[in-house]
Amino acid sequence: MEDILPLVRTAKLPSPVLKPAVPREDSASAESVVQQQDAAPGSPRLAPYQALPVTKSTIITHNITPALPVLEPGELDKEELEARINKVIDDYKEKLQLRTDHHMGYPYNLDFDYGPLEGLQKYCINNLGDPFIESNYGVHSREFEIGVLQWFARLWEIEVDDFWGYITNCGTEGNLHGILVGREALPDGILYASRETHYSIFKAGRMYRMDAVKVGTLDSGEIDYDELQGHLAANAARPAIININIGTTVKGAVDDLDRETGYTEDRFFIHCDGALFGMMIPFVKRAPMVTFKKPIGSISVSGHKFVGSPVPCGVVMTRLRYIKGVSSDVEYLNSRDATIMGSRNGHAPIYMWYTFTRKGYEGLRKDVEKCLRNAHLLKSMLDTAGVRTMLNELSSTVVFERPREESFVRKWQLACEGDIAHVVVMPNITIRKLETFVQELVESRARVSVAEALKLAEDARAHAGDEE
Ligand SMILES: Cc1ncc(COP(=O)(O)O)c(C=O)c1O
Repeated sequence: MEDILPLVRTAKLPSPVLKPAVPREDSASAESVVQQQDAAPGSPRLAPYQALPVTKSTIITHNITPALPVLEPGELDKEELEARINKVIDDYKEKLQLRTDHHMGYPYNLDFDYGPLEGLQKYCINNLGDPFIESNYGVHSREFEIGVLQWFARLWEIEVDDFWGYITNCGTEGNLHGILVGREALPDGILYASRETHYSIFKAGRMYRMDAVKVGTLDSGEIDYDELQGHLAANAARPAIININIGTTVKGAVDDLDRETGYTEDRFFIHCDGALFGMMIPFVKRAPMVTFKKPIGSISVSGHKFVGSPVPCGVVMTRLRYIKGVSSDVEYLNSRDATIMGSRNGHAPIYMWYTFTRKGYEGLRKDVEKCLRNAHLLKSMLDTAGVRTMLNELSSTVVFERPREESFVRKWQLACEGDIAHVVVMPNITIRKLETFVQELVESRARVSVAEALKLAEDARAHAGDEE
């Protein structure tokens, strides 16, 4: 495996005075592992492993959730009830740990320690309303929220006076908000997004009753730029609201933010969906910059993915000038309504504030470096074991052939689509975990192969009758 360190940006703290947050030096000279491998003299350029179209087959196993019935306190005596509750919770904790130890498929960093924040859960912390305008409800964490938003403003290069944003419940909420802001800015706009876009974008289109165009994708999972251009040209009479993926859900593909739309800036709105990779891309050297210095309208990221948090959360940011179109004063709140949700999780901003303060830019950069290195390691291990793989340049999402044993998929909590599965390498995925995973995958594939081979023999024996 080759050294992937050149992929990762060198350490530099985002400047508190709103200067460009990350260096962009030598981006042209830095070579990625993938490119180095492809460019090896004499070696033919191999097409990456290609999955069948992910929309072709939908295989949902429908594992039905069991219920844990609520007990009426009167049904048991007090001691019995206490003992029952404690047992349920203890068993559950054990299950959580086991599930945490065997998780590979979803983009969640399960490695975090919020120990010093213990005790906050006894408070109902709610940032209802606009983060910048305090409501009369005093048990809030707006000061943390604004601090975190300012951190993102530095990262995404927008002046304090020019942005508006909030800490969302998840990446989906950020997408719903970004598309809403775009729709309010350009009411007659058509929504464009690639077919490998997260479903929340098209859900937003349906919720807001927008005309939406699903654009095809390239092998990498990026939007098909020529097809997009064709649609834009054909619909030039109407403005465009374009979703740009900063890391698609299944293949981790990054759409090129720097392509021309052919529209004047007042006639398009770009929303960047960076649920997972939006938090990693600032630290990846050869990656394009996601910044408000470009003509983008909004960015959404999840907080529980790369950053890691015990509750789902995210951040959405837009330009202040757009927010007037989606906000109204609410006397009951003594604040303003400009968010998708009313009550908002006030614990989430504290988790994010804590992580950013503890790890800093350099700590996050190191986490990205570890993820990229381990993703390349996993790809190499699978390639060596004869499993076909695909890893997009810059991404830590390793795509491979869908394992055929459902029990294996369930054990490792793999996300599958069509004939592919993926592992999203997050900071909690260690080399040891990769060893166990690959070994079990190889064993699982062998079991399937042996069973299939023996089935042929069994069929032949049945056909041949008793003489065999
Ligand atoms: C590209 C992309 N966008 C949006 C989302 C939704 O994020 P969340 O699960 O935080 O709502 C995801 C989730 O995996 C995603 O991959």
